[in-house]
Amino acid sequence: MWHCSFFTLSFSFLFFLLIITRENFSPVTGLPEDLVNTICKQCADKSTVFNYDFCLTSLQPIPTSHVMNLQGLALFAMELALENVTNTFWSIEKMLTSGRFDPYALGCLKDCFELYGEGVSMLVNSIGVFLHEQYDAANVLLSAVMETASTCEEGFKEREGEVCPLAEENYNLFRLGDIALCTINLLSLALGSKSS
Ligand SMILES: *[C@@H]1O[C@H](CO)[C@@H](O)[C@H](O)[C@H]1NC(C)=O
Repeated sequence: MWHCSFFTLSFSFLFFLLIITRENFSPVTGLPEDLVNTICKQCADKSTVFNYDFCLTSLQPIPTSHVMNLQGLALFAMELALENVTNTFWSIEKMLTSGRFDPYALGCLKDCFELYGEGVSMLVNSIGVFLHEQYDAANVLLSAVMETASTCEEGFKEREGEVCPLAEENYNLFRLGDIALCTINLLSLALGSKSS
C-alpha cells in the first residue's frame, strides 16, 4: 500500500536525519545564547498569526544533536512538523474506520487523509532540499504544507455546525510550518542571497 511506503520512507528518513544532524552545519555567527527566544520573538514581531508561546514551547526541547544555530532550529521545526503530520495521518486512518462519523464528516476526513499523506511527502522533501541549502524550494514546500492544514480545516467549515475533529492537529501543523518557514527566512536573510 502506498501509505505503508510513506511510513517506511519517512521513518528511514528520520533515522537518516538522526545520523546526519550530528554533522555540523557552519554556524551563523553573532547570535545570542537564547537563540530560541530570539527567533520566536523576531518571528512573532513579523507576523500577526505567529504564536510566540507555541514557538517557545515547541523549540525549547531542541536536542543536543542539533547545532544551536538557525539551521539547527529550522531543521528541528521541520522534524517536529514531520512527526506531527505523520502521527495525524495515522490517527485519521483510525478515525475513518472508527464508525464515529457521519458520511459528511467521513468525506472531509478522507480528503484530509489524502492531504496529510501529501503533507508527509512534502515535509520529507522540504527537509531534503533544506539540507541541500535550497531554501527557496524549502519555503515553497513548507507553505504548501501549511496550506494542507488550512484546506483540511476548510472542508469541515463548509457545513454549518460541523466541528472539525482535526482542528487542533491542523492548527499545530500550521504553526509548526510557520516556525520553520520564518526561521528559514531569517536564515536566508542572515546568509544574504546565497540560497538558490
Ligand atoms: C504536534 O506538535 C505539537 C507541538 O510540538 C505537540 O504538542 C503535539 O502533541 C504534536 N501532535 C502530534 C499528533 O504529534
